[in-house]
Amino acid sequence: MTESLAGAPARMRRLFVRTWGCQMNVYDSARMADVLAPLGYAPAEAPEGADMVILNTCHIREKAAEKVFSELGRLRALKERRAAEGGRMVIAVAGCVAQAEGAEITARAPWVDIVLGPQTYHRLPEMVARAARAAGAVVETDFPVEDKFDHLPEQAAPQGATAFLTVQEGCDKFCSFCVVPYTRGAEFSRPAAAVIAEARRLVAQGAREITLLGQNVNAWHGEAPDGAGEWRLGRLLRALAEIPGLARLRYTTSHPRDVDAELVAAHRDLPGLMPFLHLPVQSGSDRILRAMNRGHTAADYLRLVERLRAARPDLALSSDFIVGHPGETEADFRATLDLVRAVGFAQAFSFKYSARPGTPAAAAPHQVPEPAKEARLAELQALLREQQQAFNRSRVGMGFDVLFTGPGRHPGQIVGRSPWLQPVHVRGPAALIGRVAPVTVLAAHPNSLSAALRDQHEAAAETTRHPNPEEEERISA
Ligand code: SAH
Ligand code: SF4
Ligand code: F3S
Repeated sequence: MTESLAGAPARMRRLFVRTWGCQMNVYDSARMADVLAPLGYAPAEAPEGADMVILNTCHIREKAAEKVFSELGRLRALKERRAAEGGRMVIAVAGCVAQAEGAEITARAPWVDIVLGPQTYHRLPEMVARAARAAGAVVETDFPVEDKFDHLPEQAAPQGATAFLTVQEGCDKFCSFCVVPYTRGAEFSRPAAAVIAEARRLVAQGAREITLLGQNVNAWHGEAPDGAGEWRLGRLLRALAEIPGLARLRYTTSHPRDVDAELVAAHRDLPGLMPFLHLPVQSGSDRILRAMNRGHTAADYLRLVERLRAARPDLALSSDFIVGHPGETEADFRATLDLVRAVGFAQAFSFKYSARPGTPAAAAPHQVPEPAKEARLAELQALLREQQQAFNRSRVGMGFDVLFTGPGRHPGQIVGRSPWLQPVHVRGPAALIGRVAPVTVLAAHPNSLSAALRDQHEAAAETTRHPNPEEEERISA
């Protein structure tokens, strides 16, 4: 059977996409589904019986990459069953494992039909057509000169009240431990006009919150909409904050080195820019930060946090940490704990260092033994958990706005996100889903908050007393 590129509408086909890794992969998965929709592919809930399965993969740590091969083993059986029934399941491996290990995938799993790197998904329809004809796998892992964003379909499935928008891709920082510069390629920023147009489209489809995405989102620097000069992220956020109907803005992931004065000022001036920032520091030891090639010291990071908190006093911080980077001593690790105590994080991710082939740290001497990594991770996570719980407890009794995104776990409940990203459960009508409403927090849990909807009249009266409700939070925080 050959597929016709122009020949839509084709017969209805089922597409199952499984996504690992960062939010940029989540965004890419949605875009791949958009690109395939005109060929008749509609989303499926499970791989069983699907006409096409895409695994959108992550290469960041060894465990993440290995999951792909075990999943491919399971898919092989499903593909054979489908062939026995006279059907065909096309299997595609996309994302960062595809980019880094394309040849290994086709060797270890010859039943894979398509291998595509993160910069080539706009060519997917053409690859599907070629895979239908080809005997072996179709592999596309180059970094094409054309911009994949220029090939996005105009029609995109709505993302709901909270939407992601990729503004920047790739990384030029080359941290010693990290595969991203190799899997995603060099830094690239989309022009401001394209970002603003996509944001307007998302809002027209019902988005009330947009999270700008990039491997190094605050390295974004794009052509200004009028073509005169260049904007940086702070300026872009100001422009986006003016879109009617858009209540909330966030951006992730930032690098401490790329926070400039304009971005700090955006946190000061834009109430819609949520008071929560994921700003990975990785380590609190200057020796290890140098070995990691991070380009900042622990003191630089602390100063930066101070500047951000001066601009936006209710700002909560989140970070990523790696324990057991090659050369990390017990004293280096203690310095990380000291930094954590000095900052006080609302939330954080922490990982054992995982050696990645081709990165400088993988070949470095003084690899840290596994038991030491495990002990350090346990100690760090205990401290981070304590800080997260303290932060959640500090919200009890506080009033703030929640953007409701869906039904809660129990009947009559709805769930949304606080300004600081915690899930907030309330008893309330489903009609509030997709809307922002004020709540008062009743109780704190390790990973979420329980709250009550505030009486609308009472909330309105308070808003009249305090024209800026965010201001009220800042004082009570
Ligand atoms: N661009 C982001 C990080 C993207 S990767 C930044 O610069 O902060 C997400 C996180 O995975 C990193 O922050 C780091 O903490 C972790 N990570 C990356 N490579 C790793 C490795 N080899 N071993 C363990 N953790 C790693
Ligand atoms: Fe990886 Fe460092 Fe780039 Fe982040 S800044 S993506 S950790 S190389
Ligand atoms: Fe993973 Fe690639 Fe994202 S390695 S974290 S999916 S950029």
